[in-house]
Amino acid sequence: MRVLGIESSCDETGVALFDTERGLLGHVLHSQVPLHAGYGGVVPELASRDHVRKTLPLLERLLADCGCTRQDIDAIAYTAGPGLIGALLVGASIGRSLAWSLGVPALGVHHMEGHLLAPMLEDPAPDFPFIALLVSGGHTLLVRVEALGVYQILGDTLDDAAGEAFDKTAKLLGLDYPGGAQLARLAESGAPGRFRFPRPMTNRPGLDFSFSGLKTFALTTHREAGDDPQTRADIARAFQDAVVDTLIIKCRRALQQTGLTRLVVAGGVGANRALRQGLQQMTAQRSAQVYYPRLEFCTDNGAMIAYAGACRLQAGQREGLEVEVRPRWSLEALPAITAAG
Ligand code: KG4
Ligand code: ZN
Repeated sequence: MRVLGIESSCDETGVALFDTERGLLGHVLHSQVPLHAGYGGVVPELASRDHVRKTLPLLERLLADCGCTRQDIDAIAYTAGPGLIGALLVGASIGRSLAWSLGVPALGVHHMEGHLLAPMLEDPAPDFPFIALLVSGGHTLLVRVEALGVYQILGDTLDDAAGEAFDKTAKLLGLDYPGGAQLARLAESGAPGRFRFPRPMTNRPGLDFSFSGLKTFALTTHREAGDDPQTRADIARAFQDAVVDTLIIKCRRALQQTGLTRLVVAGGVGANRALRQGLQQMTAQRSAQVYYPRLEFCTDNGAMIAYAGACRLQAGQREGLEVEVRPRWSLEALPAITAAG
């Protein structure tokens, strides 16, 4: 079965073709970063309009890259949530209409399930069960993944997501949107230990997170310590160290509490080098394994949506013709994926 995946939940348009026999055939991505950069963040209406402009041309490029035509598409998976409602509606409308015109089934996919399953596109792929740390611009979740589609949320953020905290702190240090990756680069020239930020919620039991205080801490430190380039780098370093340590502590705790030995890390912040190094060390000490998607599949992409959709479509899951999206949608609400559907 060849499944077309369409991702349009935020500021990236991604399309991909996944073949359940042969694996990923190709993927194409268009980033809207330059479109929103002047505004310091994503402008939802501009995002929707750009998805309208880009999705079909990207599809044509994808098909040409794969040496396929529209008739080779057996099913369509599109991101149905969570995300920006207008942006989601674009991908959902295109996905549904295209499926109807081709006479093939279509399915709405949960964006975070896409992230969570992205490491399955790699070799070796993790076996079930595992713990997933999902760290993106909108979410920070620790999930116990028992099997495909069987998710139990163990920890969530009480305020800002990890990526959101990275972006907000980057902005107050004068970096352009989306600042997460830039802040990480700046942190590399920062002196470790000049500033010490708290590790929020690590001195009490539980697996929830809270990152908004770190941003305020960075703001206060920045005001008090000055605005020279080295100080900015040192603040970036202290901030990143605090987020990374906190995530590592909570991942270790999740592995300890569940007795599981596999950890999957996905979502944009999963591209962070310091986090990857830290988790590698922590899991090695516990004789556990850590799995990531390749870097380009940490951030939003069509391949993860094609893959997650393919798992469900292959199991026989189908939906009606309505164009339905869910800007807010819990992973735990998803049905399990079983061979019988
Ligand atoms: O998964 P993603 O592409 O989109 C969402 O679903 O939100 O994640 C984007 C987030 C942004 O907040 C971005 O700043 C952050 O991931 N990010 C990073 C890095 N690369 C992307 N944060 C820290 N270090 C990075 N290297
Ligand atoms: Zn995402």
